[in-house]
Amino acid sequence: MKVFVTGGAGYIGSHTLVQLLAAGHEVCVFDNFANSSPVALDRVRQLTNRDMGLVQADIRDADALCDAVTTFAPDAVVHFAGLKAVGESSDLPLLYYQTNVSGTMNLLAAMDAAGCTRIVFSSSATVYGEAHYLPFDEDHPIAPTNPYGRTKAMAEGIIGDWAKATSDASAVLLRYFNPVGAHESGRIGEDPQGIPNNLMPYVAQVAVGRRASLQIFGDDYDTRDGTGERDYIHVVDLAAAHLAAIECAASTSGCEAVNVGTGQGVTVRELVAAYERASGRPIATNVVARRSGDVASSYAATTKAARLLNWRAAFNIDDMCATSWRWQSTNVDGYGAGETQ
Ligand code: NAD
Ligand code: UFG
Repeated sequence: MKVFVTGGAGYIGSHTLVQLLAAGHEVCVFDNFANSSPVALDRVRQLTNRDMGLVQADIRDADALCDAVTTFAPDAVVHFAGLKAVGESSDLPLLYYQTNVSGTMNLLAAMDAAGCTRIVFSSSATVYGEAHYLPFDEDHPIAPTNPYGRTKAMAEGIIGDWAKATSDASAVLLRYFNPVGAHESGRIGEDPQGIPNNLMPYVAQVAVGRRASLQIFGDDYDTRDGTGERDYIHVVDLAAAHLAAIECAASTSGCEAVNVGTGQGVTVRELVAAYERASGRPIATNVVARRSGDVASSYAATTKAARLLNWRAAFNIDDMCATSWRWQSTNVDGYGAGETQ
């Protein structure tokens, strides 16, 4: 199959490319490297011994995107490209709406021009907002609490309307819970710029000595140990969910939202303990006030993914920490050194 991958150089995109190429798919990546490095693509080529097409351009550039999609003429599109920092989305809302919402509309128009009717979209559990009940199932009300989440909810709605209006269209909206971990080789992984916003990359940088101590944002939540509980999903499992979703899109029509998680909640303290086991290093922590906007617990109902995609998570938190550590300890500055071998 010919698969057009926006944002393919990023964290989740690069792990998905490995599996797409290993499965024999022909791939074209469209990325402006706003939050990624071409070195990630070099590493994917080395891991798979396969090449891919690359167009370096911006999804906000409708003409460039349309040219790339019509030239490649894909059977399916996987749409990762976007901005994802919750805090930044409150400071720069228009940038987020232009990139995540207008960029998605540009992509759908390009697919129309190329006659491509299948899309898998990177959505987020953040579209649910405050939990009315747990686990979150796909029928839980959509009420995001920040501009980033609203861009994802809007893009979901636009893709749903496009699918209704386009004959034979098939769209799978994958609502990721908390992607972490790295490829088992340790050659590709998450490489956040600046101070990491998310827990596991922060813990990894403490373990490797780049940061002194993890701040735990509150230990007075109504959870097993008082710290926040999340559904961490191994990025390699998440990549496999994309291949399953492409298959699903090839054999169905309409638009379906599907959670991608393990169904298991892990607290901050449990994750820190798992990382200490994986790395053999102590992780210093200090408890500070709750982070504004955080919820106590979030985890997925996983039955729809099993039924529709025939996909289930295979890896546990120890696997996630072990692979994160392999990546972090062998690439202390991420892709920063710019080394391409
Ligand atoms: P990432 O930042 O590593 O990857 C995004 C990629 O898109 C990068 O390669 C970046 O350069 C590219 N990109 C950004 N703006 C672009 C533009 N205007 N034009 C072309 N390319 C552009 O992020 P990721 O963690 O791999 O996330 C991928 C997708 O999954 C995003 O849409 C994100 O919102 C979504 N998501 C991520 C998480 C998470 O925790 N990582 C959770 C839920 C959803
Ligand atoms: N936490 C800390 N210290 C830190 C960072 C995080 O204690 O330095 C805690 C948080 O309070 C929370 C847990 O670790 O309890 C997880 O926090 P993350 O920032 O890693 O993840 P979130 O669940 O807050 O959000 C992430 C992404 C969102 C996405 C959401 C669901 O940042 O974009 O997962 O997919 F929407």
